[in-house]
Amino acid sequence: MKLSDPDLFREAAVINGDWIARPDMQVINPASGTAMGSMPDITAEETTRAIKAAEAAMIDWRARTHAQRADILMRWHDLLLQNTEDLAQILTAEQGKPLAEARGEVAYGASFIRWFAEEARRIDGAIIPSPLPGKRILAMKEPVGVCAIITPWNFPIAMITRKVAPGLAAGCTMVVKPSDFTPYSALALAVLAERAGLPAGALNVLTGRPEIIGETLTASPVVRKLSFTGSTRVGALLAEQCAPTLKKLSLELGGNAPFIVFDDADLLAAVEGAMLSKFRNGGQTCVCANRILVQAGIHDEFVAALCKRVTALRVGPGDADGTDIGPMINAAATRKISVHVEDALSRGARRVTPARDLAEQYADPVVLTGATTDMQLAAEETFGPVAPVFRFETEDEAMKLANGTPYGLAAYFYTRDLARAFRVGEALEFGIVALNTGVVSHAEAPFGGVKASGLGREGAREGIEEYLETKAFHLGGLRAP
Ligand code: SIN
Repeated sequence: MKLSDPDLFREAAVINGDWIARPDMQVINPASGTAMGSMPDITAEETTRAIKAAEAAMIDWRARTHAQRADILMRWHDLLLQNTEDLAQILTAEQGKPLAEARGEVAYGASFIRWFAEEARRIDGAIIPSPLPGKRILAMKEPVGVCAIITPWNFPIAMITRKVAPGLAAGCTMVVKPSDFTPYSALALAVLAERAGLPAGALNVLTGRPEIIGETLTASPVVRKLSFTGSTRVGALLAEQCAPTLKKLSLELGGNAPFIVFDDADLLAAVEGAMLSKFRNGGQTCVCANRILVQAGIHDEFVAALCKRVTALRVGPGDADGTDIGPMINAAATRKISVHVEDALSRGARRVTPARDLAEQYADPVVLTGATTDMQLAAEETFGPVAPVFRFETEDEAMKLANGTPYGLAAYFYTRDLARAFRVGEALEFGIVALNTGVVSHAEAPFGGVKASGLGREGAREGIEEYLETKAFHLGGLRAP
């Protein structure tokens, strides 16, 4: 990593503006498998200190005008863009994704800050007609309070800004626990927030073991909201831990996205969409196409075109020129991918892309045909570059397959028939539905799932509501004497 501003790389946690450097735990670069740095293992006492700092900082932060908060957020946004190259280097080193994708993530992450800086000025309420004379009722929006933010390793910048920016815009303060695999992007964001003028204590970043920090955050009555992105299992556990203190929850959990291609689809557009949806971040996204359902009439042509594109993907270190797919995050991830592929092959799937001889930290991008519902990859997210193709005959069959999952995050479908577009779009039981596009990630669009994929929405207008409470303010005695 050669940074033009080495100060962005901090091997420390930040509590109330104090940087705590302690080399307790190592952080591994997934491409080399070697340590790229260390981080402190923040204790329960330190976590409590961060919560108190956030509580104290909120007194001043919520009292500022929306415009003042928005100005600081906009400065933070600008600093992210000005430091794109360094942020992308840090991100690729700790997470593995190709540099081009890391640069894209910096822009994506910054877009949430801009969006919510703009939304800050639009936090309003309502004046409600009263049933009694001489009375008015106001619905006033107020910040929820101190928020705990627990984020995953797959988007170390964007998953933080998508939660922190609306919270700060609303007047809340934050205690962030980034993934212990990818703490450095979060810490670089905190350095830039400090430079943008965010007051000490408004954004605390804690590194270390998730159990200790998570338990302290969820048990605290001072923390009024938890926003988490990660697995459904951990989301449910955190929700249980939050229950005694009844926190507001946003949970962006696992997915099992169907990607449906009907006979009447634009074939090339469908293949392009599948590549974007399936192979972004090496298949390590919650909205990745996990099951590719293709109608019989277009099946062989689609598979041939997809194979050609997948065979051309270049796998290697994220910082090497031309890499399309970097290393997977760790050995457990590559193991899960191999287990899914082996299980599918043992149950009758056929591998239709040539096998590659790759080092152990990489996963082979593969297209499998003959996928069926009894395979592990039909039931769970593979979280890797595996494209299993399920063949179907009728729309009815496709809908049963698509909806036949406890998850409900994202679904994609390709058709040129307008009536079918509405029918299918309305029947898909998912929080995000995409017609004729493989891209669903924009600050402007509500992002979130139904069923086992979680609670709440991020991004969009809805994203800021998650950090606001509505106070009913009843005003009496307003009749003229
Ligand atoms: C995720 O994988 O959780 C987020 C992906 C995105 O924002 O596009």
